[in-house]
Amino acid sequence: MRRTKYHINKSALFSPIQIAWTPPIHLTPGLLINCGFCGFSVSKVLNLFTSTRHQYLSDKLQAPNTPPSGPTGGEAGRAPAAPLDRRFCAAPMMDWSDRHCRVFWRQLTKRAVFYTEMVTTGALLHGDVRRHLDYSEEEHPLALQVGGNEPDALATAAKLAEQWQYREINLNCGCPSDRVQNGFFGACLMTRPGMVADGVKAMKDATALPVTVKHRIGVDDQEGYGPLRDFVGAVADAGSDAVIVHARKAWLKGLSPKENREIPPLNYPMVYRLKNDFPELEVIINGGIEDVRAGLNHLSHVDGIMLGRSAYHTPWVLADVDQQIYGGASPVTDRLDAIRGLYDYIEKELTAGTRLHHITRHTLGLFNGLGGAKQFRRHLSQHAHRDDAGIETLENALSFIEAARERAAQRRAETESLGQLSA
Ligand SMILES: Cc1cc2nc3c(=O)[nH]c(=O)nc-3n(C[C@H](O)[C@H](O)[C@H](O)COP(=O)(O)O)c2cc1C
Repeated sequence: MRRTKYHINKSALFSPIQIAWTPPIHLTPGLLINCGFCGFSVSKVLNLFTSTRHQYLSDKLQAPNTPPSGPTGGEAGRAPAAPLDRRFCAAPMMDWSDRHCRVFWRQLTKRAVFYTEMVTTGALLHGDVRRHLDYSEEEHPLALQVGGNEPDALATAAKLAEQWQYREINLNCGCPSDRVQNGFFGACLMTRPGMVADGVKAMKDATALPVTVKHRIGVDDQEGYGPLRDFVGAVADAGSDAVIVHARKAWLKGLSPKENREIPPLNYPMVYRLKNDFPELEVIINGGIEDVRAGLNHLSHVDGIMLGRSAYHTPWVLADVDQQIYGGASPVTDRLDAIRGLYDYIEKELTAGTRLHHITRHTLGLFNGLGGAKQFRRHLSQHAHRDDAGIETLENALSFIEAARERAAQRRAETESLGQLSA
């Protein structure tokens, strides 16, 4: 049976004073009073929650960092979100794929599924929930990635993901960092399929959102296909809707996270084999895919591809996605428009106190390989962190690209006229 869901109206964040009747959580009517100036919100829940599982969220709804809800925010007021089409995904990347980066990427593809950086369940339970979960509407389709191992905490995270209108919750079982290992989550969870299955089940029980797992093909001394098959079998049995498989092992001792993305060899056939053995399970392949063309080869073996570093370092690869993967039109044909399309967002963010650099740092690779790219990068690196940096700073940076284009056009014209003269 489909559950009726009520969601937050994120635009309410920006309205100065809001008083609205709102159902803050499943079928529970409440009163929300929100002050958009100071961000303080009071949500008075009229109906008491009946189950203890809901008690934590009830508490969250009373807390100052509760998201403001609004009467138009829920699915009651709009069509339910379409099922996610994960044929192309952009990877979660800590400190890289932040909300500004994702808004920039959205200039290049409207269809790709984006993933947040990993947020730990501890941060969600004890930290500033709004800071961790807020995003802009235009980032959709957007999935929340969490790190954790404790079923109740994961269930709470899943509820929050739904409340914040994410389209999927993804569990990180691929990160090899020491910090993550100390908390016994991330890649080391691959040695404990039962624990991951319990977490997946808890999330499935807590939310109607798709629940997925991102993992490696193994860790440390796990040899061959068997441990991977057993791990995926356990999470599939627990109800995982998809797995995203980084096609290399993680070596938990002796390699840094960066080395763990480079040194263990890629093994794509092992991921293809998973799809063969679990035909009902959606399998997304990740690791070392350079661009959409390279990704297309994988799509005859698995359901989707995920790109990380190549999308970040050379974001223009994303401009091929809507056409080549989804068969639609590309939202942008000129790289300059990908920058200028951000201006409204930038103005809003600058007004809210964000520095230009925090947004433009994600755009530095956009013109890589083209005339003026070096000067574009250098200009932004030197000026975008300043207090008074704004749209003009960006326009000045773009002027190097435009000047290089003019020079190239002039050279072409001269070559052509020379050709005509000698003909
Ligand atoms: C800077 C950086 C941060 C990352 N942070 C995360 C993360 O938070 N969660 C996660 O599951 N993977 C993370 N990854 C791994 C990527 O999601 C991806 O699995 C990996 O980079 C391999 O894909 P690629 O070869 O396309 O980059 C990170 C990778 C990078 C480069």
